[in-house]
Amino acid sequence: MIMKILKYGAPELRVQSERVTSFDDELKKIVVDMFETMYSSPGIGLAAPQVGINLQLSTIDLSVGADEGKRIVLCNPEIVSSEGSQRGDEGCLSIPDFSESVTRPLKVVVRGQGIDGEELRIEAEGLLARCLCHEIDHLNGILFIDHLSSLKRTLIKNRIRKLVKAGDW
Ligand code: NI
Repeated sequence: MIMKILKYGAPELRVQSERVTSFDDELKKIVVDMFETMYSSPGIGLAAPQVGINLQLSTIDLSVGADEGKRIVLCNPEIVSSEGSQRGDEGCLSIPDFSESVTRPLKVVVRGQGIDGEELRIEAEGLLARCLCHEIDHLNGILFIDHLSSLKRTLIKNRIRKLVKAGDW
């Protein structure tokens, strides 16, 4: 089932998500729906709060459905180390049609749990490292525009405000 993706302005995007504690059928159903929603958008990452679910859960697939082996389900993730930096354009399904250059670590090591609660340790660099940072931010109520200068952030907020007024957001 394709879920509704909440857009910037929704309070659900700004809360600290709760830890996943039940690795049950309900969680698996949410994950199936999140992948379907992410592919339909299309996007390479989706975090549960973006579909109104207050859980530390994210789906990632840099191949956007082309390679099943690239699917990542991440529960309760945390960045345990990071190295270097990269600058590149970043967007978000909750802030559609906006993208800006964001600085992120070049490499990260992320620890978390998989869909059955098994321990995961992911060493990532480049785009995957960027994506992991972006999704983990979501679980802490942080959006990519929070990493921009206040001037750029204000410009984007003003453009979104106009879209909201026009009923286009
Ligand atoms: Ni996002």
